[in-house]
Amino acid sequence: MKIPILSAENIGKTFHQGGQENIILNNLSIKIYSGDFTVIMGSSGAGKSTFLYTLSGMDSVTKGKVYYKGKEMGRLKAKEMARLRAEDFGFVFQQNNLVSNLSLYENVLVAGFLDVRQKTSEVREHTEHLMKMMHIGEERFRMPAHVSGGEAQRTAIARAMVGNPEILFADEPTGALNRKNSEVILDILTELNEQGQTILMVTHDIHAAIRGSRVLYMENGDVKGEYLFSEMQRQDDKKREEDLSRWLTQMHW
Ligand SMILES: Nc1ncnc2c1ncn2[C@@H]1O[C@H](COP(=O)(O)OP(=O)(O)OP(=O)(O)O)[C@@H](O)[C@H]1O
Ligand SMILES: [Mg+2]
Repeated sequence: MKIPILSAENIGKTFHQGGQENIILNNLSIKIYSGDFTVIMGSSGAGKSTFLYTLSGMDSVTKGKVYYKGKEMGRLKAKEMARLRAEDFGFVFQQNNLVSNLSLYENVLVAGFLDVRQKTSEVREHTEHLMKMMHIGEERFRMPAHVSGGEAQRTAIARAMVGNPEILFADEPTGALNRKNSEVILDILTELNEQGQTILMVTHDIHAAIRGSRVLYMENGDVKGEYLFSEMQRQDDKKREEDLSRWLTQMHW
């Protein structure tokens, strides 16, 4: 039996604006399993980013509970939550958010130093390893303003991975990239997942979604459907794309 690493139980998120109540997450329940590459799709405004932020403790819920490894996240102290975000969770966003006055290499290194479990020498070694995996060569010593969007985003993945996170969260990681650069990023995410990395990714792109093992479809703040790829489909990208596309049409995507 698969054991969930992360689960949401009847979570709700409401914003109040001008005396009006906006329901962003509506009684949502879901389980995320270790080793899975879970993809979240859905129309703009469906609540995908909000869902990702509440699952990763970057934002709080107004109702319900989120459990990480059986612990209720809402009950953790601020310090425990900060440790979780630094050591157990990694984040990649659409914009790379690199620190502009640090080189690519330093951006990853500094993030690694936040993980107190690793010795300085280990962080250095790990950073080198990740830069290789992300195909970042001599450009590692350049500032973010002087590299391509693809290089910067690959560095952002290295930065997210340097703390050996249990879960890698990615919100439209290829959203700002062209097809070629997107495919490089997706190859890297696939490789990480094959090495056992649990990934949770939001995307609008079917090419990106077919890299997952499971696709959740969100609408009006809830998960409306779930699509699981079969082993047979795994071998055939074109078929995966066609089948997912058909399912998304049924979901009124
Ligand atoms: N801090 C906030 N205050 C008020 N409303 C918010 C806040 N954050 C998000 N919302 C609203 O919540 C809804 C869902 O937003 P969210 O960013 O989660 O959608 P999304 O599915 O990620 O959309 P997209 O595909 O465009 O990124 C939107 O209507 C948005 O305006
Ligand atoms: Mg979003």
